[in-house]
Amino acid sequence: MRLGLLGLGRIGAYHADILSALPAVDGLVVADLLPGMAGQLAGRWHAETAEDAAALWHSGIDGLVIATSTGTHPDLLRQAAAARIPVFCEKPVAHSAAEAAELARDVQDWADRIQIGYQRRFDPACIRARADLRAGRLGWLHSIRSTTLDPYPPSHAYLESSGGMYRDCTVHDFDIIRWVTGREVAEVYATGSNKGEQWIADIPDVDTGACVVTLDDGTLAVISNTRYNGRGYDTRLELHGSADSVAAGLDDRLPLGSLEAGAQFPRGPAYPTFMERFAQAYRAELAAFAQLVAGGMASPCPVADAIESELAAEAAAVSLREHRPVRVGEVRPVLNPS
Ligand SMILES: NC(=O)c1ccc[n+]([C@@H]2O[C@H](COP(=O)([O-])OP(=O)(O)OC[C@H]3O[C@@H](n4cnc5c(N)ncnc54)[C@H](O)[C@@H]3O)[C@@H](O)[C@H]2O)c1
Repeated sequence: MRLGLLGLGRIGAYHADILSALPAVDGLVVADLLPGMAGQLAGRWHAETAEDAAALWHSGIDGLVIATSTGTHPDLLRQAAAARIPVFCEKPVAHSAAEAAELARDVQDWADRIQIGYQRRFDPACIRARADLRAGRLGWLHSIRSTTLDPYPPSHAYLESSGGMYRDCTVHDFDIIRWVTGREVAEVYATGSNKGEQWIADIPDVDTGACVVTLDDGTLAVISNTRYNGRGYDTRLELHGSADSVAAGLDDRLPLGSLEAGAQFPRGPAYPTFMERFAQAYRAELAAFAQLVAGGMASPCPVADAIESELAAEAAAVSLREHRPVRVGEVRPVLNPS
């Protein structure tokens, strides 16, 4: 199959490495808004280039991967749906719940051909956590801890267009909690701080965040995020139940030093960034997309499902601003059918 890829920044170039090595993909056409960027990079993947999104639609692609900045996702998804092109789009779907809900309404007749990029759903340890929980091996769940600690902040331009800590980063925690438990987020109490560089506070955004989350069955979750985890990239999902407790991300590359005498764990080297930690998951999600394009698979993360995680992120943003617990129902937009 022939795939298009729009956006060749951090994650787009990484996806191109994966896509160009997938056995199902025999042609890749790439484009970026920055003049000359596609031409400079295309050789790396033996890819063709397109001038822009419009040229990409008309280049005979069977499917499209969108890895552009968040603000561009809604319109590009609408265009792909109108062109009847199966599409993978990076998270989040949109900057706000209202925009995301309008998009979901506009693309509903193409919804099963759209996959949103929440790659943790493809992480082998998260898949095992889900299986253990659903098979009853943990008993009943009393607490969840979800941790996403980045070693250093992304660029100023990226953070400014990211939608902020909760929509950009915490949204992965919300998504994996929902996907593993099969429960919805009912309420979020979020706080944040700025002890790092001033430019993040000036955006304005927080550089460290914490959320206390209540799921719709009463299970409690605690989410912890930062942009300044010097030892490396730390992502863990801990499930604590009445019968057993398990964790994803608790391997030798966990960036956490033990102070116990004689402890040999974790041996390191620590994961430097999300790309090393989730390498297998990113490959699996794009292999799944190739299957979706070939018609052999339903979307593993449809727009409507992704939007539920993004509503929890929106509740967190409101909670931070208003300094109170916010129910997800409060931020759910009500749309008139068009
Ligand atoms: N799933 C994940 O783990 C993960 C990780 C990183 C980023 N992301 C998401 O991926 C998206 C991109 O992030 P990034 O870190 O690669 O950002 P980036 O700023 O490094 O790259 C974005 C690229 O998109 C290009 N672009 C912007 N608008 C365009 C348009 N209309 N047409 C063509 N190209 C356009 C820019 O020129 C830039 O090269 C964001 O939405 C982000 O949330 C997801």
